[in-house]
Amino acid sequence: MDRDKLAEIFESQIEIEEKAIKAYEEAMQMIGNFAFRLVFEELLMDSRKHKRIFEVLKQHITLQPSEWDLKLSKKIGEYVSPTEIEAHIKLEEDMIRIIKATAKDVEDETVRRLLEHVLEDENRHHSVLKKLIEQI
Ligand SMILES: [Fe+2]
Ligand SMILES: [Fe+2]
Repeated sequence: MDRDKLAEIFESQIEIEEKAIKAYEEAMQMIGNFAFRLVFEELLMDSRKHKRIFEVLKQHITLQPSEWDLKLSKKIGEYVSPTEIEAHIKLEEDMIRIIKATAKDVEDETVRRLLEHVLEDENRHHSVLKKLIEQI
């Protein structure tokens, strides 16, 4: 796909995420139950995150391939030391271990589901860092 087309798609995604942000902000004001409000708060945070991702993508899509292509660009190890990434991986592993063990013993369904939900994120964080360290 050519870069102009991609830039267009990123631009319209930014607008869609902005609409979602407004909608989730409104929903949060209507909802009293803390667990449901939390669900919408997370959707709101994810929409802000996605908006940010599309903004950065849009900003950088016009760069030369050498600055853009992961295969051609500098290795992540030139910016962050492997030891540092290993430490982050270890942190995520600690979180995964603790949350897993806690979720197993929690009787309250709401709390357990929220913990399992965080666990999914921690597993994702872990795999993101694992992929990153492969690029060193
Ligand atoms: Fe999104
Ligand atoms: Fe994490």
